[in-house]
Amino acid sequence: MQQHLPGIWRLTFGEPELATPVSKRYHEPDRAGLASLPVPNEAPFTLDRITGQKITRGFVVELPLGATEQIYGLGLQLLSFNQRGMKKTLRVNSDPVVNLGDSHAPVPFYVSTAGYGVLVDTARYATFYIGNTQKVRDRHTGSLVSDQASIVFSTQDLQDRRPHEDESTVTVEIPVAAGVDIYIFTGPTMREAIQRYNLFSGGGCFPPRWGLGVWYRCRADFDQQQVLQLADSFRADEIPCDVLGLEPGWQTHSYSCSFAWSGKFLEPRRLADALTERHYHMNLWTHAFTHASSPLYNELMPYAGDYEVWQGLVPDLTLHETRQALGRFFAHQHVDMGAAGYKLDECDNSDFNSSPWSFPELSHFPSGVDGEQMHSFFGLAFQETVDAIFREHNQRSYHDVRSSHALASPYSFVLYSDLYDQRDFIRGVVNSGFSGLLWTPEVRHAESVEDLVRRLQTVVFSPQAQINAWYIKNPPWKQWDRQRNNADDFSPDWAEVQAICRDTLRLRMRLLPYLYSSFYRYTSEGIPPFRALVMDYPGDPNTWMIDDEYLMGDRLLVAPLIAGQKSRPVYLPQGTWHDFWTNATYTGGTTIDYSAPLTIIPLFIKDNTVLPLALPTLHTADPQSLLLDVRIYGEGLLPITLIEDDGLTYDYRRGRLNKVTLSWDAAAGLGSMKRDGDADVPYYSINQWQV
Ligand code: GAL
Repeated sequence: MQQHLPGIWRLTFGEPELATPVSKRYHEPDRAGLASLPVPNEAPFTLDRITGQKITRGFVVELPLGATEQIYGLGLQLLSFNQRGMKKTLRVNSDPVVNLGDSHAPVPFYVSTAGYGVLVDTARYATFYIGNTQKVRDRHTGSLVSDQASIVFSTQDLQDRRPHEDESTVTVEIPVAAGVDIYIFTGPTMREAIQRYNLFSGGGCFPPRWGLGVWYRCRADFDQQQVLQLADSFRADEIPCDVLGLEPGWQTHSYSCSFAWSGKFLEPRRLADALTERHYHMNLWTHAFTHASSPLYNELMPYAGDYEVWQGLVPDLTLHETRQALGRFFAHQHVDMGAAGYKLDECDNSDFNSSPWSFPELSHFPSGVDGEQMHSFFGLAFQETVDAIFREHNQRSYHDVRSSHALASPYSFVLYSDLYDQRDFIRGVVNSGFSGLLWTPEVRHAESVEDLVRRLQTVVFSPQAQINAWYIKNPPWKQWDRQRNNADDFSPDWAEVQAICRDTLRLRMRLLPYLYSSFYRYTSEGIPPFRALVMDYPGDPNTWMIDDEYLMGDRLLVAPLIAGQKSRPVYLPQGTWHDFWTNATYTGGTTIDYSAPLTIIPLFIKDNTVLPLALPTLHTADPQSLLLDVRIYGEGLLPITLIEDDGLTYDYRRGRLNKVTLSWDAAAGLGSMKRDGDADVPYYSINQWQV
């Protein structure tokens, strides 16, 4: 047992496996960031209360769980929030249809309202029993746990007992392993424990400014001309958009991949240039399963697993040589040509498909890793493959990925899913912040205008404003119904719907300066830009089960509506809150019933906030996107610090960055802007102060 880094304890049990998330990590901990956090003198509980034991099935670790502690995390859990009382097996799976722990991005890390986090350093499909088991004997004293007095005699009494609300344990069963390292992250608060975990991972990511703009993915079979037509139509229709994504049709043998441009894109460089000219960034769909026709096939053969997926090799991306080979090819074929980022599809697992949709857990890989471990590693190793290209080019990027795992926060990759329940998608935004992940509740087709607009509102208040139109020919505001959309049968009221959607996307553009500075806090301090209420208010039991509201940055509370809801309950934590739309004031600590017309997403601003809103532009390259309307809420006592840098490179790490503080003097009725730094980068300026 030792203090590994300030505020982080490592406990080693038995003989840990060689291949684990920490042993395979690609980023060093952010030691400077960690050093700047206050360190409590003591671990959150006596560490000798954690025990480990080798069993025939693998290894078991037991950790204490206090009576009132609430537990969150375990990665992108789309179907549950507060994990206390649950059993979760962390399997990588692209179809997490049942609440058993399956996830695109399971992460063996949980946090507690008692103010600490626990990382179980394993790539195995570990099972977490969170306060829902009861041993016969106390594991420390050996005495019987139940006494006569606590034994109940009726079914009703038994059901009422709810043992998971007692002092209990978190039991973790790790298959195969003969030992494991456990990392404990101290707080003192839950949020600080998460910060410490993210900084231990290497710090949060910092996307380029354009990455936070609007994304649109073209239908999968679009060709070069159709892509450009769409690009032009968005500018003509004044639809904000920074990123256009090409789906599988851009390359041959999309399932599996040759990584080569298909006949639909005869002049990819011209396409890239034409998109750049129009201020779009080009994102390319891809996955790693390498077809025999790929120029990389022979090179990758010695580095591939022993099973095929879609007649393609599965490259062992945990090996440096493999990542280098793939990275070199991607750099040369796409990035040098103008591709700004990737969508790394299908890197999770699937159990529901008859074709070899993924490799079996029993696979063998040249690094010695087996298929179970590889499923955990694959998404993150793929992210590292691609991220390394952009780091070498000193170019920041923002991408999509379908799978991830522990220590992911440094990666500018956003998770997405083929599932499509808006309620679950909102829970994804709320949950991802516990585990160093980012998630987009992307918009595709809809069931109605209302459904479309409500979904779009949610996506605008998420890490990535993604419209994934891969199976619809026309933008969803022209026709929300998939079949009719593809038949070019536009809705009679499409112009009106388009106007609503345009306004919604403009709101995203207005919030960019605020969002960008929130991401800067993610990279520099490890504070997730999107987070559950309980993360900031762990002592307030009213927040413990709230998985349909969240904070965006430090000042905004978002409570999305879903089609069919004309109103909804909104819990506002302690303090005063202001309605973004009406300026009405609410006293927190209560639940209000909020009704909103279709065009409005319930949005509340913390009292005393100075909130900068950019002028809405069609893309982030427009200098007007740096012109600010600054709104003052309450007395405006909370200044806000914005970040100025080139928005594109890593130069900010070498000091090419200014911090701009906007403050408000209520007595004088005057606002001020103070720039700290003299980096020669695009500057923010004030359009007006709005009181
Ligand atoms: C799916 C992916 C979709 C889309 C599609 C191909 O696997 O989740 O978002 O990319 O493949 O166009």
